[in-house]
Amino acid sequence: MKTVLYPGSFDPFTNGHYDLVCRAVQLFDKVIVAVAVNAGKSPMFTLAERRHLIEQCCADLPTVEVVVIEGLLVDSLERYGVQAILRGLRAFSDFEYELQMALMNRNMRPQCETIFLTPTLKNSFVSSSLVKEVASYGGDVRRYVPDPVAEAIIRKNRGEDI
Ligand code: PNS
Repeated sequence: MKTVLYPGSFDPFTNGHYDLVCRAVQLFDKVIVAVAVNAGKSPMFTLAERRHLIEQCCADLPTVEVVVIEGLLVDSLERYGVQAILRGLRAFSDFEYELQMALMNRNMRPQCETIFLTPTLKNSFVSSSLVKEVASYGGDVRRYVPDPVAEAIIRKNRGEDI
């Protein structure tokens, strides 16, 4: 049984993230999407809200499980029986940060492998931060995020419960 863990802040989960999950589903028996804390970001959605939204987006993918990780990523790998961490690479600009994280994780836990997948070109410019910026000015983000996320962003920007 090959299990991969796909961590991210997913604030919010975009079509690019969904694209990567679908690719991972083809390659692994089980895909764990892990909503984790990025200490450098102030999120729009709580961890629980993000988990709930990703569960809705991936409801048709039976081998996908969504979890929240509040501590160090490497400390959760054993618990979930994970063989590798999955991250997405959209452009060369992602590479430096991703390489640093992969090497730091391996330094803390030598058996920790990180693998990278690329989304389709159509989604390669989509980022959570740009989606939030466009939405904050009233722009239409429905092309960039799954429907449950688009609705949640609209509700959040109106100050409503999601
Ligand atoms: O989507 P992001 O914000 O690029 O994801 C980064 C994330 C959440 C995967 C990273 O910040 C992380 O692993 N956070 C958990 C805490 C941790 O293990 N930090 C050390 C990373 S080397």
